[in-house]
Amino acid sequence: MTPPFPISATRPSIVKFGALSLRSRYTVAPLAGYTNLAFRLAVRGIGPLGLATTDLVNAHALLIRSRKTMALIQTRPEDFPLAVQIYGANPAEMCEAARWLESYGVASIDINMGCPVHKVTRGGGGSAMMCDTTGSTVALVRAVVESVKIPVTVKMRLGWDDDQLTAPWFAREFEKAGIAGLTIHGRTRAQGFSGQVKLEGIRRVVEAIERIPVLGNGDVRTINDAERMLRETGCAGIAIGRGALLNPWFFGQLERWERNGDPGQCATYAERLSFMGRHFRYLVEFQTERFACLSFRKIANWYCRVLKPGRDIQQQLVMIDSLKHFEELEAAIADIIAERGADTMPDAELPIKVPSGPQERW
Ligand SMILES: Cc1cc2nc3c(=O)[nH]c(=O)nc-3n(C[C@H](O)[C@H](O)[C@H](O)COP(=O)(O)O)c2cc1C
Repeated sequence: MTPPFPISATRPSIVKFGALSLRSRYTVAPLAGYTNLAFRLAVRGIGPLGLATTDLVNAHALLIRSRKTMALIQTRPEDFPLAVQIYGANPAEMCEAARWLESYGVASIDINMGCPVHKVTRGGGGSAMMCDTTGSTVALVRAVVESVKIPVTVKMRLGWDDDQLTAPWFAREFEKAGIAGLTIHGRTRAQGFSGQVKLEGIRRVVEAIERIPVLGNGDVRTINDAERMLRETGCAGIAIGRGALLNPWFFGQLERWERNGDPGQCATYAERLSFMGRHFRYLVEFQTERFACLSFRKIANWYCRVLKPGRDIQQQLVMIDSLKHFEELEAAIADIIAERGADTMPDAELPIKVPSGPQERW
């Protein structure tokens, strides 16, 4: 285990997005389709989070209160602080969406400038915004900042490709425009979700800004990854996406490691089973039972890779069709775990596949 270097000697001990003080420097990065209300509440129940962010939502769809979009911004008082991430290239719509979200009660607004998928970039949103250094992207961000009192942040990539590494320039301009913080995923749009995260690219963004906190993002799954991200980039905190799916206890471990150098025990099989139960029941509570089952099918394999309940149970879990069936399988897994004994598993070595990126065409 890498001993923690003096993290707060070189960065603020509390990360603040404007007036919003984050409880921890480690936040959940948005993973569309996964980091929904059910997952967020299950994770908040086992450790402190700085902030969580919704899936990206289209500003226009929000203004017409599209049913799907309203489901994406579902929240509860315990799901605080929550940022809603919006995208779009129309400044009037983006400002109106931000004002509506402020009245809805969200803690902050995040503007998406990192999404590589065609559906988002073809309308000039997501990472396409990082190609426009003539002023309209900066003007849009300024307009959103000025339309609300709550903090506005931006999540972006290093740039469109290696020839257009515009992130440091945008970071400086956005800070002048009044954003309260920035998350930077250390890949270009051309990289998608493959290849290495470039820590020196994140460092250049950190160096380009004067005051606001920068959250580094990309491929942080272990304490050693986090240590490297903090040390090599100088970022104020870390946004963790796929690492949170892999190990929902990561946030608590990071906090303990930062406080006393020891991340503590990994979760036991029984704790993981109980987390899976809470996750599934929240899905049922916030969606219909049918949609909860469909959502759960996407994630059942991760749980099975950790819990190793055997092929038969795994096949049933990935086809789950009711809460009653889930409860039967849950009881069967509990028996298997009890027979096996209560050993723990080193998280860093978990052989779990995590989604490599949104499935849509680029
Ligand atoms: C399945 C999936 C969905 C994602 N959805 C979003 C999204 O809605 N908004 C966003 O800003 N980034 C999204 N991302 C990017 C992540 O927030 C993050 O920047 C990226 O996965 C790298 O960080 P990680 O290695 O910690 O996951 C998504 C990534 C994946 C894999």
